[in-house]
Amino acid sequence: MQSPTPAAAAPSGGEHPALRFEAVSKTYRGGQVKALDQVSFDIQPGEFFGLLGPNGAGKTSLISILAGLSRASSGRVRVLGHDVVDDYAAARKCLGIVPQELVFDPFFSVREALEIQSGYFGVRDNGAWIDELLENLGLADKAHANMRQLSGGMKRRVLVAQALVHRPPVIVLDEPTAGVDVELRQTLWAFIARLNKEGHTVLLTTHYLEEAEALCHRIAMLKTGRIVALDRTSNLLAGKASTMLRFKTDVALPQDLAPIARVTGRIVQIKAHDAAEVESVLARLRAAGVPVEDLEIGRADLEDVFLEIMQGAQA
Ligand SMILES: Nc1ncnc2c1ncn2[C@@H]1O[C@H](COP(=O)(O)OP(=O)(O)O)[C@@H](O)[C@H]1O
Ligand SMILES: [Mg+2]
Repeated sequence: MQSPTPAAAAPSGGEHPALRFEAVSKTYRGGQVKALDQVSFDIQPGEFFGLLGPNGAGKTSLISILAGLSRASSGRVRVLGHDVVDDYAAARKCLGIVPQELVFDPFFSVREALEIQSGYFGVRDNGAWIDELLENLGLADKAHANMRQLSGGMKRRVLVAQALVHRPPVIVLDEPTAGVDVELRQTLWAFIARLNKEGHTVLLTTHYLEEAEALCHRIAMLKTGRIVALDRTSNLLAGKASTMLRFKTDVALPQDLAPIARVTGRIVQIKAHDAAEVESVLARLRAAGVPVEDLEIGRADLEDVFLEIMQGAQA
């Protein structure tokens, strides 16, 4: 199998970050909605970078500006040194973008859609790579199916294939696994992880924090248009409340514990910073007469860190 090499070159004259966001702001409705507020960060070539944030945080707005689909109200975005406004064609050629919304042309077959996209980027004789994309994304038997006959999950695969058809050095995925089945998630991550190993830079937004924890070297967290955390994934996991108590109960928690607990049905999670805090929580539960089943004391995961940062960050 032929390995794809990042094709489009950076402008000459030194090293550039794969992506550079410089004080990017975006307002909608004449300034009433501030979707992005002075967002600045770099992503280095070869990184697998996660952009996380609740709904409405501004993730898609940032990606739309990067893709040239929308203009920043102020600030700049560069792709391998190319400004996305002043040098749009070169910037766009470096990017493979999988959009959050399922957009497709219903008149073409899967293979035709990929051939048209190749043509759009001026890539000729791309048949072998198109075959490899179809194979790796589990689309080989759908190559001649019409786009409108495909299920949502299959359309999502085609969008991924379309984004990769010109072998872009920088791959951007906006919630690619929202509402898709486990099989596609695994297929997709195996393939994207391989491309990242081969040198492609990846920017991912996702709601699935366990995916981000497993895949991303660094993570930025966005809240109401502002970066509220940006660090290596391992530092984020180590830095905050690093111990979690998890147990099941049918009884309401006492008033001093309820505000710091995360409750999902019968499952309760309470964070603790050290062993003394673990003991104190257990003592308070016992004093309140709360029966505790299936108690586990474990490491905080990215979801715990995310919730703590989102609760603590100023809106
Ligand atoms: N075209 C638009 N017109 C008006 N407001 C918008 C538009 N697109 C996004 N917004 C608003 O901007 C904010 C950020 O949205 P978005 O970038 O889609 O966030 P995310 O992708 O993180 O969920 C939200 O408050 C959203 O309602
Ligand atoms: Mg979005």
